[in-house]
Amino acid sequence: MKKDKIIKTDKIIFAVAGLLFAAITFATIVKDNVPEWKYYQSEFKYIAAEVAAEEAVSKIPSGIQQIWVEDLDRVDRCVTCHQGIFWPGLENKEQPYATHPQMSLFNDHPPEKYGCTICHGGQGYAVDYISAHGFVKFWEEPLLAGAVASDYNISEKAALLETNCNVCHRYERETKGMPFINHAKDLIQEKACWGCHVINGEGGTIGPELNHIGEKHPENFDWTNFSGFRSAFNWHLQHFDEPAQIVPGTVMPKMGLQTRDRQALALLMMSWKDENLPTKYIPGFRQKEQLRPEESSKRQELLAGDGAFFIEKGCFVCHSIKAFGIKSPTEKGPDLTFALDDTRVRFRQTLQEFVFDPTQSGTMSIIFSTKIILTDEEKWELINILTKANHEYKKNQNNNQ
Ligand code: HEC
Ligand code: HEC
Ligand code: HEC
Ligand code: HEC
Ligand code: HEC
Repeated sequence: MKKDKIIKTDKIIFAVAGLLFAAITFATIVKDNVPEWKYYQSEFKYIAAEVAAEEAVSKIPSGIQQIWVEDLDRVDRCVTCHQGIFWPGLENKEQPYATHPQMSLFNDHPPEKYGCTICHGGQGYAVDYISAHGFVKFWEEPLLAGAVASDYNISEKAALLETNCNVCHRYERETKGMPFINHAKDLIQEKACWGCHVINGEGGTIGPELNHIGEKHPENFDWTNFSGFRSAFNWHLQHFDEPAQIVPGTVMPKMGLQTRDRQALALLMMSWKDENLPTKYIPGFRQKEQLRPEESSKRQELLAGDGAFFIEKGCFVCHSIKAFGIKSPTEKGPDLTFALDDTRVRFRQTLQEFVFDPTQSGTMSIIFSTKIILTDEEKWELINILTKANHEYKKNQNNNQ
């Protein structure tokens, strides 16, 4: 596919349903030669009359309606058509007339301070259906709803919105109403992605930093080994499934992620972008990434203690080390807590002999000679750490008995 085509397919997703719908409305409207929103506004009066008194109905404003949010530099005219948003009792009406679901969201995000597009995407100032929903050329934020969800193969269309929620809520460990993002944040800890990637300003450097991965343009991904509909979201899905298939030779491990895990992580990746929002819109801004207490003490221990060696060198990708609370995302190799004894059984070598001459193990001789090259000094450090860890672990086991 050509470059310009990639850009368009990712960012401007045409809703076939939308087009059809527009064609029908267009036909109706052109006949009357009035803008489509006038049609919706006159319909809305009939619908509102079902739940409200005549006086209230007579006060429904007509003409273009808008919410201007100066701080966010947005003018959202969605309410020109979506007039029922703040009307209780219209929950079951069709769009654009229905009451907004989960009205309690507006307690935390008052409409006059947030508008609509900051959560939904779309083109705020437009008042025709196609442009307002952002399905137009050069508009990079289409409405995150049904049409995009079907292109991304996500059946729960509300999941997409979470990407926008997390642009602001990224520093929170967990946020109500964001099941996919919350799950992805669990996985980041569980799989210790931060061992290889800088995430929210902190982490290892084996892989590229991910602070702004959501801004990476589809044009800048490598599509050579990718098949299917080209979008950044879909690239992440396939890369998480089988990193080495998309980027041959990568050391990013296959982590046995299920479809939902990969979708959640891809949504999280798309949300890590810098929108230049005023800081009052970002809960927890400039605090360190928030972690659960047990996660942050574990992480401190890993980054500061003896376990740091195995994170920095990337050994944790394949080895868990119980003694340091390190859990490998792949567990391809044995737990190194027991290496001191195990090498004798497995390779008939002391740990020291094995580390200086790993030829008995095909895997480790390749790793020590080509992937992770240790100086002699580091080898001694490794032997000391593993010896100490083994002794202390056994001592603790005995004490606990
Ligand atoms: C010209 C009138 C019009 C304007 C302006 C408009 N909408 Fe809509 N909207 C509609 C109609 C009609 C539907 C129902 C058809 C459909 O689902 O696409 C709808 C449906 C929706 C849906 C449900 C879509 C889905 O996939 O289930 C959302 C969400 C939405 N609009 C949000 C917005 C937002 C946010 C804005 C402002 C950026 C906006 N709309 C502006 C007419 C409008
Ligand atoms: C704080 C974020 C947020 C803001 C601000 C917000 N919404 Fe929503 N909106 C949501 C969520 C979450 C849903 C529920 C999505 C779902 O469950 O499908 C929703 C649902 C909707 C739906 C129904 C979609 C459907 O599939 O039926 C419409 C229409 C809509 N919003 C329009 C608006 C309009 C118009 C505004 C501005 C006045 C607005 N929203 C402001 C978060 C927001
Ligand atoms: C433009 C930034 C922004 C967006 C987008 C946004 N929020 Fe918020 N949200 C905030 C701020 C700021 C607060 C207030 C936090 C506080 O008072 O500490 C808040 C509060 C909340 C709260 C209650 C307090 C908390 O932090 O748990 C929930 C729940 C929440 N948001 C969920 C959502 C969901 C779900 C979405 C997407 C549908 C969303 N938010 C979109 C900025 C945003
Ligand atoms: C052993 C180290 C390692 C681990 C663990 C790891 N990655 Fe990676 N990751 C890499 C390397 C190296 C690359 C660059 C090559 C590639 O794209 O595969 C990369 C690439 C990426 C990219 C693409 C970045 C870009 O700019 O193209 C994303 C996104 C990513 N990783 C996310 C994750 C997430 C999320 C996790 C945890 C679930 C994770 N990684 C675990 C090493 C790692
Ligand atoms: C790509 C995966 C991978 C990486 C990365 C890796 N190892 Fe290994 N390692 C293995 C496997 C698999 C074995 C089991 C030996 C075998 O089957 O050949 C092993 C075995 C070992 C053993 C022997 C353990 C025993 O109980 O017998 C030691 C010690 C060891 N590795 C240390 C390291 C250190 C230190 C690092 C980081 C500098 C590291 N490994 C990185 C896969 C890996």
